[in-house]
Amino acid sequence: MKILEQLYEGKAKQIYKTENSDYVVIKYKDDATAFNGKKKAILKGKGTINNKITNHFMKILQKNNIPTHLVKEISDTEILAKNVKIVPLEVIVRNVVAGSFSKRYGVKEGLSLRQPCLEFCLKNDSLGDPFINSSQILALNLAEKEDIEIIKTYSLKINSILKEYLTKLNIKLIDFKLEFGKTKEGTVILADEISPDTCRFWDINTNEKLDKDRFRQDMANQMYGYEEIYKRIIEN
Ligand code: TMP
Ligand code: ASP
Repeated sequence: MKILEQLYEGKAKQIYKTENSDYVVIKYKDDATAFNGKKKAILKGKGTINNKITNHFMKILQKNNIPTHLVKEISDTEILAKNVKIVPLEVIVRNVVAGSFSKRYGVKEGLSLRQPCLEFCLKNDSLGDPFINSSQILALNLAEKEDIEIIKTYSLKINSILKEYLTKLNIKLIDFKLEFGKTKEGTVILADEISPDTCRFWDINTNEKLDKDRFRQDMANQMYGYEEIYKRIIEN
């Protein structure tokens, strides 16, 4: 399908129009950002790795009846995706305490939660992605009641599927962020990415961090997590 002009550029991806308005091309970049874009760097090869890891996860989810935007892979860094209107929410699922949850509630990083925890944030960098609850989402007309229920159900199901899959590869799924979109027909589907940029992955035995926290926290070898997850998932 012919790639036309750029529609949007985000921090880690670009979206291009195609000849068919039902589809877009998404291109992964090597740009890394943290703290709502305040910290920036180029991590060479990250775009390719994140594209391949995301596609691998999306295919597993599709097989488990979670609809996703992925249509097909076009190149190392590009996919053809369904054109959706992104629901302006960042959906966070947590299994183990880390990051902002640890700071906010004064709980030590690494503690396993009694049950998976689901959080909604408004997708708005300039406001620092503030927390938002279902009542506020409805009042602000950001999504329908049924959409919120579907998003919650899919998010917890995605957590179960990925947690089980990753455990077999000695990877602990600590937490992750999802985004959903609505097609022209009004169907809610999984969009965006599932990669070391948007998930926390720890080695199951050593608790070594294998994700973007290495970049956020100025740790050594910031590409190591991306490469290690890629190796365990794709080359397994
Ligand atoms: P947090 O602990 O900083 O709230 O992050 C929770 C999870 O969400 C973690 O896996 C990283 C991911 N995340 C994003 O993908 N984008 C974001 O903008 C933020 C803040 C977190
Ligand atoms: N994705 C966000 C940013 O680019 C925050 C993060 O991942 O830490 O700033």
